[in-house]
Amino acid sequence: MAKVNLNYRKLSAGYLFPEIGRRIKAYQQANPQAKVHRLGIGNTTEPLTPSVVSGLHDAVERLAQVETYTGYGDEQGEEVLREALARFYSQRDVNLDKDEFFISDGAKPDAGNIQSIFSTTNLVAFQDPAYPVYVDSNVIAGRSGSYNSNQGNYSGFVYMVCNSENGFIPEPPGEKVDMIYLCSPNNPTGAVAKHKELERFVDYARYEKAVIIFDASYAEFISDSALPRSIYEIKGAKECAIEINSFSKFAGFTGVRLGWTIVPRALVCEDSEPGELHRFWLRRQTTCFNGASNISQSGGLAVLSKEGLSECAAVIGYYMENARVIREGLFDKGLEVYGGVNAPYLWLKVPPGLSSWEFFDKLLYEAQVVGTPGSGFGPSGEGYFRLSAFGHREDVEEAVKSIQDKIKL
Ligand code: MLT
Repeated sequence: MAKVNLNYRKLSAGYLFPEIGRRIKAYQQANPQAKVHRLGIGNTTEPLTPSVVSGLHDAVERLAQVETYTGYGDEQGEEVLREALARFYSQRDVNLDKDEFFISDGAKPDAGNIQSIFSTTNLVAFQDPAYPVYVDSNVIAGRSGSYNSNQGNYSGFVYMVCNSENGFIPEPPGEKVDMIYLCSPNNPTGAVAKHKELERFVDYARYEKAVIIFDASYAEFISDSALPRSIYEIKGAKECAIEINSFSKFAGFTGVRLGWTIVPRALVCEDSEPGELHRFWLRRQTTCFNGASNISQSGGLAVLSKEGLSECAAVIGYYMENARVIREGLFDKGLEVYGGVNAPYLWLKVPPGLSSWEFFDKLLYEAQVVGTPGSGFGPSGEGYFRLSAFGHREDVEEAVKSIQDKIKL
């Protein structure tokens, strides 16, 4: 008799973004004439750049000829792409071996799957608020107790509160935890951790033999050269941190799908030898994954070329100008706004008396603007609201104007 994975029953609600999609659909069915401005999910809108398109075409052409056709590739990713990534990091004085890179179909699956190489008895700490995949994947794996609907949290997890008092970057936990999820530049708050702040986590993790899972998917949006773009800029991080990254946001691969995860050979936890966690992730990927699409990988290689990087930098500049438009527009409206300077997300304080979901409905119904309620990212997100800077400029400008003109605070 088959039984279900009961951990799924613990999940508090449906996944955040489909829930938002359902609410937009209901609004549009009731208001078919309304033009809705979508600043909710961080979904890229600007086209792929010319050298990236050419990289993708090249791969299609190779697949079209019997002499150059290839089937399955290396499950860990094409060597040439892993070499290019190692060079990309070395330009920032981070030296990693090409075999420490694992190419994947994006940061989200890696962020969800990486926990599988660790014991289900591990105590896990999360930034609160956080990208929901970290918490949900650990609930599914059985590391949590039940969901407390009053507090909006799971028992058995450690929540590191991120609020305006700590600049949305928490201190390491006051207790001993085994795994820590960090995201910088942060989704959803747009805050970026400084070297000193990451050093505290690395010191903590090395002392406690904990592992940091560092999501750097938005690193290319950092324009301030004093801020770290990789956890490996911190001394000792290779012994205690895994880094996850993505081509999605900085190169427009949200639909193309391509990402990478770095599991250094030096990484250890309480009961592992150096190299063992690296072998576990290789075993996991060779068992459960057949490698990223060869077309996507050819596109990724083009992204990392000199022209590709410079073209993608221009697109990043475009999104960051959107962020400026939103930040200044909402600030002028009298809203408290954070983020949006070295990250493509803006984090607003919801006006007094409204919950995050009430503010979501207010913006949708009164200004036809979609954002993401902060409470969807964890209990400390209640009272906040996220806007994404991914969008066409005119739509972003219209959204800001609509909020300015139609919302009464
Ligand atoms: C977000 O809006 O938080 C992200 O776009 C979701 C994702 O990258 O999966």
